Amino acid sequence: CGIIGYLGYREAYPILISGLKKLEYRGYDSSGIAVFFKNGYNLYKTKGRVHELEKKISSYRIQIKGTMGIGHTRWATHGIPDNINAHPHVSNSNELIMIHNGIIENYYAIKIILLKNGFTFKSKTDTEVLVNLIEYLKKENKLSLKEAVRISLNEIVGAYSIAIVEKSHPETIIIAKLGSPLSLGINEKEFFVSSDPISFMDYTKNVLYLKDGEMAILKKGKDLDLRKIIDNHRLNPIIKQLKINLKEIEKGKYKYFMLKEIYEQPKTILDTLRGRLLIPEKIIYIDGIESNKDIFINAKCITIVACGTSWHASLIGEYLLEELTRIRVEVEYASEFRYRNPIVGKKDIVIVISQSGETADTLAALKLAKKKGAFVFGICNVVGSSIARNVDAGAYTHAGPEISVASTKAFTAQITVLVLLALIIGKYRSTINDRCYEFLCKELGSIPGKVDYALKTDDTIKKISQVYHNANHFLYLGRGINFPVALEGALKLKEISYIHAEGYPAAEMKHGPIALVDENMPVFVIATKKGYYNKIIGNIQEIKARKGKIIAIVNEGDIQVNMLADHVIKIPNISEILSPLITVIPLQLFAYQIAYIRGKNVDQPRNLAKSVTVE
Ligand code: G6P
Repeated sequence: CGIIGYLGYREAYPILISGLKKLEYRGYDSSGIAVFFKNGYNLYKTKGRVHELEKKISSYRIQIKGTMGIGHTRWATHGIPDNINAHPHVSNSNELIMIHNGIIENYYAIKIILLKNGFTFKSKTDTEVLVNLIEYLKKENKLSLKEAVRISLNEIVGAYSIAIVEKSHPETIIIAKLGSPLSLGINEKEFFVSSDPISFMDYTKNVLYLKDGEMAILKKGKDLDLRKIIDNHRLNPIIKQLKINLKEIEKGKYKYFMLKEIYEQPKTILDTLRGRLLIPEKIIYIDGIESNKDIFINAKCITIVACGTSWHASLIGEYLLEELTRIRVEVEYASEFRYRNPIVGKKDIVIVISQSGETADTLAALKLAKKKGAFVFGICNVVGSSIARNVDAGAYTHAGPEISVASTKAFTAQITVLVLLALIIGKYRSTINDRCYEFLCKELGSIPGKVDYALKTDDTIKKISQVYHNANHFLYLGRGINFPVALEGALKLKEISYIHAEGYPAAEMKHGPIALVDENMPVFVIATKKGYYNKIIGNIQEIKARKGKIIAIVNEGDIQVNMLADHVIKIPNISEILSPLITVIPLQLFAYQIAYIRGKNVDQPRNLAKSVTVE
């Protein structure tokens, strides 16, 4: 979910609406706003996206006036996406109005107590429970809103970022954070509240990132009052400067952000290499590694933790790091890692990978790893994100803002950082010889050009998509370092076109998925020359023998697979170990083309969110 708020001298409504649109990547199944005036407020909410909310409001032909308001765009956790479950939520007395991102885990126990005390509930949300708990404690103990919020939050188990307003005091917003992100934009005489500063950067570049366990009282015309939730201790606000280039978040000539982001990859990979790979000098330099050299040299084991597409990049990292550094690598889903008492301790390295830097499970895994004494290295795209701020050291992927929910350019930027990491550590540990190191540096430098070339497969892919856009299932096969690429290809297709797809190690297919193969099953096979070419040819034969349709990704000049496959997509030659950066390109394009032909909303697929800040 995304939350937003404004308090100042401008009209709040347009600021809230445009801000919410920028937060839709966090969820978009329902939305709502409340704008306050003296002793009252206008509250509107609806199922669907922010533009539905705008449409609904403009159909009432009323003018929403007021210089203070809050808004929310939702990704449903408790209760289906509908008008009632949408935020803001109002307390029983109609006095308190609140928005919330996160999950209150002990909401049910609190709800029972509130029900016993005569409270009633309209929605199925945990948020409505919290706003009523605040009301209950406020009235019972005759507290100020600030104290009631503070004491209630100390009773809560879970994660939240909230903003709450009292109808009779529309000049004050109280905000608080634990686990879910929350930032505050500050100008003279105005405050902007948001889950992501992207939504207020048109107005101010002065930003305060609230830390876990902090709350702030925002009052019209007054200085910011920042407090610790636990003991009300007053804190000194640390205000930072935002650095984001607005041009980067426009679609330009592309119909969807996803296509734009796929096409940006030659540049984003180059940007990720910039200043880190010095080809003539054959030097690779990443500050966060250089300054922790001994930790990497002496590591016995590296655990990589991530979710979704970042988890696929992590699997590629496992192949890269083990091959080039000879350090044992484990890859874990963050959601599993955080709850299974993992064996990591002092001297162990945990790498967390996250595009957004806000994924709740990854953040929790990071904190657990730190608590156990591990050295935590982060690979994030969003500068200043929660994960980036919490790691011991890290390297940013310089992919620029990724807007499309399905991740593409962040994935290749993550792999690029992993390659750099593996080469640096391999060099420190002398697990790669100079010749191999120098050769790979050169090859890495050639990647942006080769990705550009691979993008030229788009025309072929459009034709293949026309043949298969009605298929109900797809298989994606790869071996070695291209097995995770097969997983990623299948995930991309599932996410945006809602076609069932499975990625598999090509040889493992005969232990199950082969039962699915018949003349209606299209099978993508990554069959590049430098990989396990002959083995893959065997696997292709097995599929052909069952009448499956083969779409093969091959290198320029390939002969054998060319003769066997129903369709071939030709990409440039590259070392096996760097090949995922090229082989994934046609798979991204294919997923896009299929979703486009099927008329799906490519950038905002149903049920998904770009940044998942709930577990
Ligand atoms: C969501 C997104 C995915 C992303 C995953 C992990 O599910 O839809 O595209 O891969 O979260 O996100 P992160 O920001 O941690 O990389």
